[in-house]
Amino acid sequence: MLTGQVAVITGSTRGIGRAIAEALLAKGASVVVNGRSREKGARAVEEMAGGDRVLFVAGDVTCQEDVENVVSAAIERYGKVDILVNNAGGSSGFALVADLSDEAWQQAAAWILHSAFWATRAALKDMAKRGYGRIINISSVEGRQANKATASHYITFKHALNGFTKAVAFEYGATGITCNAISPGGVETDLMTETGPAAAESAGITYEQFKDNYAQETAIKRLNTVEEVAAVALLLVSPEGGGFTGANLPVDGGTAL
Ligand SMILES: NC(=O)c1ccc[n+]([C@@H]2O[C@H](COP(=O)([O-])OP(=O)(O)OC[C@H]3O[C@@H](n4cnc5c(N)ncnc54)[C@H](OP(=O)(O)O)[C@@H]3O)[C@@H](O)[C@H]2O)c1
Repeated sequence: MLTGQVAVITGSTRGIGRAIAEALLAKGASVVVNGRSREKGARAVEEMAGGDRVLFVAGDVTCQEDVENVVSAAIERYGKVDILVNNAGGSSGFALVADLSDEAWQQAAAWILHSAFWATRAALKDMAKRGYGRIINISSVEGRQANKATASHYITFKHALNGFTKAVAFEYGATGITCNAISPGGVETDLMTETGPAAAESAGITYEQFKDNYAQETAIKRLNTVEEVAAVALLLVSPEGGGFTGANLPVDGGTAL
């Protein structure tokens, strides 16, 4: 289905990005995998066992030069970019708004929003040449609601990412390029195991309660899985997915109904 296509997935050595990279690889695409740690990158390349169809490019998406280098490395190695998944994103320094630091705010802006802008701008220039492209922004259920204290930076920039998704879809819809968001609910990845305990502590609850809060908010009463998110990404990049653009597809088990 995706034979001959080239996909760039930011933040894809682990978690949701990795599951999407593996799903695209399994359908025949060449995939550019990214992350900050070279060690995680080397492990991902080995475990994915995709031979020449997997390239790891190290880089921190909060740095413009690094993001642009991920896109240009894909073009250098495979000649083009057909699919861009802006997946890397997160926040730290959880606090109520009155106590939130400039550093935490600016880091979340770069991690979630600026990174997607930088990668999308770079990829669009290449996609426009062929009049084809599929851009997916990994947003969050927190981009649709605001019911978690101490995460205003994450919530704000995920909402903004949804706005950016619509704007790109509007500008490029007639050129063969689509842009959609996927909004996962709680998925127990490294992000949750690494930042969840601090977020829980600042909200005055345990990590188990933090996870259970996500599960209880859903209609299915469980967390989602990385495979469930990857399945929607596959739909969006498939020939049958060409009718979606500017959409924000929830994979949240019925949260925020
Ligand atoms: N997990 C959830 O419950 C959940 C829910 C809704 C939305 N999301 C969203 O889904 C996306 C992926 O989350 P995840 O849970 O899969 O995260 P994860 O398990 O922590 O995986 C993150 C991946 O991204 C890389 N990464 C992290 N920060 C990066 C950076 N600044 N630059 C480049 N690579 C980076 C990591 O490698 P390195 O550490 O080596 O950089 C790793 O490969 C995020 O946008 C997140 O907001 C997650």
